[in-house]
Parts: sequence; structure tokens; C-alpha cells
Amino acid sequence: TVEDAPGTATPGRSRRGKAAEPGRQDWKSWPHYDGAAAGFRGYWYPVTWSSHITGKPQPFTLCGERIALIRDAGTAYALHDRCPHRGVPLSEGDQQFPGTVSCPYHGWTFDLPTGKLAAVITDGPGCRLTGKLGVRTYPVEERLGMVWVYVPVADEEPHPIDSQLPEELVSHPFVMGGRIEPRGGNWRFACENGFDEGHAKYLHRTALWRLFKPMPTWNITRIVPKGRWIFRVQEEVHWEADFPGVGHWSNKRWWKTRPPKETFNIGNTGKADRIDPVIEAQEFPGFASLSMPGVLRIAYPKFIHYEFYVPVDEDHHRYVGVMVNFTEGWETLRFYAKYLGAVRWLFHGQFSGQDAWMVDVTDAPPEKLYRPDISLTAWRNLSEEEYAKKLAALPGTEEKA
Ligand code: FES
Repeated sequence: TVEDAPGTATPGRSRRGKAAEPGRQDWKSWPHYDGAAAGFRGYWYPVTWSSHITGKPQPFTLCGERIALIRDAGTAYALHDRCPHRGVPLSEGDQQFPGTVSCPYHGWTFDLPTGKLAAVITDGPGCRLTGKLGVRTYPVEERLGMVWVYVPVADEEPHPIDSQLPEELVSHPFVMGGRIEPRGGNWRFACENGFDEGHAKYLHRTALWRLFKPMPTWNITRIVPKGRWIFRVQEEVHWEADFPGVGHWSNKRWWKTRPPKETFNIGNTGKADRIDPVIEAQEFPGFASLSMPGVLRIAYPKFIHYEFYVPVDEDHHRYVGVMVNFTEGWETLRFYAKYLGAVRWLFHGQFSGQDAWMVDVTDAPPEKLYRPDISLTAWRNLSEEEYAKKLAALPGTEEKA
């Protein structure tokens, strides 16, 4: 499956596995960005739903590294998915003893918290390798009903996961629905696509979602950095024009179908009349924002949509899309009814599927950018800066990052 695919890019080939044309895939303008083609290390990533991790180990690829996830006594653990004996995936193994996982080939048995070789079943209690060998372990946390794994740059201690999550998800109760899907295409293209102003107007013009959630015919005015985030600040611009030799077009036909109060002007050109108090308190300077390591946030008046673009390898990513509503009590039932009855199919299905398609077929550079692509270049700049900061904080680790 795509989930299990190892890194496939090889020198002389493009990231999409085709023979590289001369001069293609030239990323020298964005060296750090390209250095992270298989994902930025030094971050937490959501991998799968917590309920999917049980006592039977399962394989995942994250930032090009094969990991096995397993649950023991309620705690999830992540280990390098390769037995040091003969290279068999530990995810093919099982649990013979509590707190361990055993390789299916010769029964080498590893302690889950430390990864140390705890017993070699086929060599008896006197095996001299016991306690001396081991497999790499990865820090694991569980948030938003998902298992998150930290991929280190070197051997550093991870930062607290809550410092990386959007603040509103840490400090307020909420309910959520979502989808996790393995997808083709590089994770960076997924970031660029999610934050791309132009695609929202054109690619999604046929999405049924817009019948229920019309979007303004906005134009981007500037990018606002705020903390770890960059925000797309827009204003609505309506126009009708004759394109010489082409024809007549009005951008009103794209989105504008309801009065302004129903549009999503949070922190932007005005306020909708019924904004959730938690969302209103955040004062997002715009509708769409993006942060490292590839988290898109779309702030609607009554809920927030997040997309985590999780790097699998250079040619694949994992799409984690969640819709969050900051309600409690009986209101949560209304949210679940809406999510399961409509949002899951219209937004996390058709709308998001259009994105998946485009991310998979994008093949740049080389590229010729146009005005709305300032959203894209702002994201690349943010990535370059943060990556450089991380490297500075971890001297001597550049080659691993
Ligand atoms: Fe794992 Fe032999 S390959 S125990």
C-alpha cells in the first residue's frame, strides 16, 4: 500500500519516479525546503487514529522512516520497523510477553519503552546479545484521538506536543470529525495547494461544498505572519471583464451567492453575525492560515477545519483532515449529525478529493509564478526560516536534518 511505500526517489530521477528531464526539479532557490523533501524533522506528526493501534504492531512510514506502532497496557509505542538480526519488519511480529514485541523470524524480543533486546527466545537465557542491542524508539503522544510520533533531527528531547498544536485545540474543549488518508504527491505540494489562493477559486468551482458554504470572491492583499503562522488576508473584489479575444467573465459567478453576513470575514473585512465565541476570541487575521510543519487552518464562523500534511516519503504524504467544533453537551450531537450527514462527504470527500488529485499531478519546479502565488512563496520562506533556526539550535546536525 502507499502507507508502506519506502522512499523511492533516486538520483537522476524526478520525485515522481519518471526519468528526470535536464534542468527539472531544480530547487536551489529553496535549499532547506528541498532538504526536507521527505519531511521536516524535529516535529510531532499525527500518524493514525488511536483506536487503530492495538497489541498487534502495524507499519507506517514517516519522514522516510519505517516505524512500527503498537499498544501495550494502554500506552502506544513506536519503534524502528526493522529487526537488527536479519532485517525483518517488527510490524510482522507479535507480543509474546507483556511490554515487548517479538520478531516473527527467530523471536528476538524487544522492550517497548526502550527498544532494547530483552530476550532471544531461540537462544535461551544465556544469550550474550540481550541488553546490548536494540532498535530505535520514537516519542509518542496521543491528541485529537490520534497517535502522534516525534521524528528527531538528532537524538534531542522532543518539545512538548501542546506547544506545537494550534492554541485553541489545547485550551478549549471541542468535538471533531475527520479523515486520515494516504495520498500520492509530496507533502510540500499539499501545503502549497492548501494555502493557494488561486486554486480555491478555480479548482473548487465545481465542489458541491460551496453550495452550502459560499466563499467570497476575494483577492489576496497580503500575508501576515503571526507567531508560527502565516495568514492570508484578503478582501472581496468583484469584477466583470472582457478578456480581449477570449470572452466575458465575472468572478461573481464563482462564489458570491449569499449576503455578506454569511461569508467568512473573520478578522478580515468585517465579521459574520454568528461567530463561535472561541473562534472569535482567536482573532485570526484572515480565513486561511498555515504553519510548520504543514498544518493548514481554515477558520469558519462556527467551526475550524485543519489539514495536517504528514510526510511519508518524497512521493507520498498522509492527509489528516479534521473539522472541529468548540461545543459541549447536546450541541455535540448536532455537530456529529452535520458531520456524518454532510461534511464528511462534501468537504472531506469531494472537495478534498479535488486537492488530492492536484497535489498528486503537480510537477514543479521549474515553474512560472503569478501574483496569487505569494501565498505559496510565503510558505516556502517560512519553511526556510524555521528550518535554518532549527539547524542553528542543533549544531553539527545539518546532514541529518
Ligand atoms: Fe528478527 Fe531473526 S530476523 S529475529
